[in-house]
Amino acid sequence: MTAAMADVLYFNGRFTTTAERVLGVEDRGFQFGDAIYEVFKFVGRRPAFLVDHYRRLEHGLRALEIRNPWTEQTFAAAMRELVDRTEFDDGIVYVQVTRGEAERSHFWPEQLEPTAVAYSRRFRFPDATKKELGVRVITTPDRRWHFCNVKSVNLLANAMAKKQAQRAGADEAVLLADGFVREGAGSSFFAVRNGAVVTHPLDEQILPGVVRDRVVGLALSAKIRVDERPLREAELFDLDEAFLTSTTQGVMPITEIDGRTIRNSRRGAVTSTLQRLFEELERASARE
Ligand code: PDD
Repeated sequence: MTAAMADVLYFNGRFTTTAERVLGVEDRGFQFGDAIYEVFKFVGRRPAFLVDHYRRLEHGLRALEIRNPWTEQTFAAAMRELVDRTEFDDGIVYVQVTRGEAERSHFWPEQLEPTAVAYSRRFRFPDATKKELGVRVITTPDRRWHFCNVKSVNLLANAMAKKQAQRAGADEAVLLADGFVREGAGSSFFAVRNGAVVTHPLDEQILPGVVRDRVVGLALSAKIRVDERPLREAELFDLDEAFLTSTTQGVMPITEIDGRTIRNSRRGAVTSTLQRLFEELERASARE
């Protein structure tokens, strides 16, 4: 059996595998990027932070006026069944809800059946060594639209920024706009200066990261000061520590920005603490 056949695909309420071709060419997700997505992690066959992911999905669907095919309960049941049917223990689930299929026109019909898709994938999460060594990032202009708080599938600007990072030998691109740092192309960005953590406030310029939210909460409980404010680009030259957060990377130290090392280029004390606290919280969440 190939890896793809071992994956499980949820499609509009039934289970199949990703080997089956399920989408029509006039699905609006394909034609217009008219869709919302989510990515959650499962560990030991248990989803982590499932409710947080559902709530963000629900918010995005409401913002785009796409009918939500689920309630919190039916979503949780479907996703747990999907993970149960999956042959491997750890991985990610990609979820996407499109506005549905209709004859191509910018105007969409009012009563469309949404297309709901979710599938499990193996994923190589960073190991302890990677989490200690951290990643290199580059900076690049943020070319995304002004509705980044919604997790839409329009990821072309993100994909181009990531490719640029890869070509520069880096792991992530940090997006800049109007002289400020927004977030990573696929992650939230945090800086540490004089013991305080700085991260962009929740607004339309960034995605409300599930891990970001938990890390802010953990920092506050650990009596680490948190400044939710846009970081000036110039401040990147004078940081004690920096790290990224995301579902797939957890809390990931940044060692280099545009080829400049941050302080001594080792994982900093605040980053280590938050990394450890987040790993504990994630394990607890996956046991719920
Ligand atoms: N990235 N910002 C952007 C633009 C993202 O694409 C992501 C997620 C995040 C972090 O959000 P969360 O903590 O909810 O994963 C921020 C994908 C899904 C990832 O690499 O995990």
